[in-house]
Amino acid sequence: MSPSPDAGLGGTPIAEEAVRAARVLHPDADFMPRPVRRRIITVANQKGGVGKTTSTVNLAAGLALHGVRTLVIDLDPQGNASTALDVDHRSGTPSIYELLLGEVSLVDAVQASSQSQDLLCVPATIDLAGAEIELVSMAQRESRLKEALTQEALDALGVDYVFIDCPPSLGLLTVNALVATHEVLIPIQCEYYALEGLGQLLNNIELVQRHLNQSLSVSTILLTMYDGRTKLADQVTQEVRRHFGDVVLKTVIPRSVKVSEAPGYGQTVLAYDPGSRGAMSYVDAAREVAERGSSKGRQR
Ligand SMILES: Nc1ncnc2c1ncn2[C@@H]1O[C@H](COP(=O)(O)OP(=O)(O)O)[C@@H](O)[C@H]1O
Ligand SMILES: [Mg+2]
Repeated sequence: MSPSPDAGLGGTPIAEEAVRAARVLHPDADFMPRPVRRRIITVANQKGGVGKTTSTVNLAAGLALHGVRTLVIDLDPQGNASTALDVDHRSGTPSIYELLLGEVSLVDAVQASSQSQDLLCVPATIDLAGAEIELVSMAQRESRLKEALTQEALDALGVDYVFIDCPPSLGLLTVNALVATHEVLIPIQCEYYALEGLGQLLNNIELVQRHLNQSLSVSTILLTMYDGRTKLADQVTQEVRRHFGDVVLKTVIPRSVKVSEAPGYGQTVLAYDPGSRGAMSYVDAAREVAERGSSKGRQR
């Protein structure tokens, strides 16, 4: 997106922020393309704090606010995605836990987020904390999520995108997510240890590919928490691009206080501060994701 439209409106920081906010909040003339077919994307990285949840909810909100109906599945017992989307996730609420156990259907576990009529969420409650162990003795323990995400149920919800927010581990919950999807999105934090552990994640993805889900691939890498003041952030960015090429989105998410404040208000950064750089960069990243999945974009 070129900065030129801002220039005619004064060019001051406040004017620019207002223009950005208008783009995020009133995107009517600015719809993002729907995918050729429904995309189900697992957001995974076994490291904690790399931006999985933040990227899940903000990419989802970016798509939803631009007319692309999107479902977020919170697969982390901490329920951070549920918090950011402001959906009820008290213990006992129909959630991903009951869905994995086969006690409720997808449609019964879904809630609408107040942030957009096109943004839906299956919440995670603290009940999910025991699931990693409970699943071990269950039949088809690796494919319970896949079984729950039926075409019919997803058709009934009318969603074009499903994002699954994984916990920071490579246990059975993450395996369920990898089995249920065709695509993995890996957020990578622009920090010193960013690439550490990535090999392990890629090995696990390959194992799932080989034994459980041949159609799985890493379709997207998103660089997060970029701090332009450090040389290190640039080095990490370059190294990730060298390794992964086109899979890495052009948009890089900056480190921004607004992004980290938003969940405290039960909001995505798009709702909390639509004029902020963080909001705009997630909208840009969402547009890249949408364009890759559309007939205009690269076909997988
Ligand atoms: N771009 C960003 N700028 C500033 N803080 C961020 C940014 N992205 C994430 N954070 C913060 O970093 C922490 C970890 O992010 P989170 O998305 O919860 O990671 P994960 O889900 O991988 O554990 C959270 O407190 C979050 O608010
Ligand atoms: Mg998380």
